[in-house]
Amino acid sequence: MKNMKKILLSGIKPTGRPHIGNYFGAMRQWVGLQEQYEAHVFIADLHALTTVQNKEELSAQTLNTAMDLLAIGLDPKKVVLYKQSDVPQVAEMGWIFNCITTMPYLARAHAYKDAEAKNKEINVGVFDYPLLMAADILVPDADIVPVGQDQKQHLEIARDTAEKFNRIFGDTFKLPEPLIIDDVKVVPGTDGQKMSKSYGNTIPLFATDDEIKKAVMSIVTDSAGGVPTNVYAIHALIKDKATLDALYEEKKGKYKDLKDELITDLIAFITPMRETRAELENNKDQVIAILKEGGKVAHERAEKMMMKVRERVGIRV
Ligand code: TRP
Repeated sequence: MKNMKKILLSGIKPTGRPHIGNYFGAMRQWVGLQEQYEAHVFIADLHALTTVQNKEELSAQTLNTAMDLLAIGLDPKKVVLYKQSDVPQVAEMGWIFNCITTMPYLARAHAYKDAEAKNKEINVGVFDYPLLMAADILVPDADIVPVGQDQKQHLEIARDTAEKFNRIFGDTFKLPEPLIIDDVKVVPGTDGQKMSKSYGNTIPLFATDDEIKKAVMSIVTDSAGGVPTNVYAIHALIKDKATLDALYEEKKGKYKDLKDELITDLIAFITPMRETRAELENNKDQVIAILKEGGKVAHERAEKMMMKVRERVGIRV
């Protein structure tokens, strides 16, 4: 029975083009989670506004992210996929949370401290980011929030804030549980360092065949006993160990051959997702309709909670 499933909630900031490091690090796992949970996944466009302040860029990135998620296999029949801004109740809730939270408490958040350490000109949105995130989680009454290391503290802030609200206004929110996703596995880039856009060592998730070839050819071939370690490490993401070890034994020392094998396997792996994504790109109206539909569901759910909240705090007279 669908309604008995726990609610799992995740937000994704609409940033640039994803690479296979993002995919194997986190994205892939959402596809599995949609089977076990009633999953609600939203694109955090209001959060993105703390850094992206350009209308073409924000709206394009929002749609791109929706297409990325659908292309890797999020199924709108199973997942409520929506835009954060279609649920304005979270901004309302965020304001109420602002009023029960102290500045020194928020000043302990890592993301804010990092920004401050870099001497950035920090906007209020960056400072307040964790409370909007708390609202994202608490308004739909989520049970489970999958989080990587970098978001653990944000979930703790959401739990603290729920407790604080409950203490002041009476029991309203349940405390969401983290689901620590296994993103400790570092996906290596073409130079052997962690794959990251800032290192310029990525293989895009929806890469064209030419991009795949170029990226693989650029892999730095340090070797251990005739096995090019960086080629092997990337190959290991998409091929089982036994087959892979046999192949690398057979072609020991033949770096060009091994790279060709990796190119073939990456093309086979990426092509279906890239094609699905291209279809979506040609049917943007369909993508927009999916987001709208998800937004309606999320809005309705949010409104139920907000009726209660407004009543509790005394703004619903
Ligand atoms: N802060 C998250 C990130 O940067 C995105 C996010 C916003 C989120 N709201 C959320 C994640 C609510 C989970 C739940 O990745």
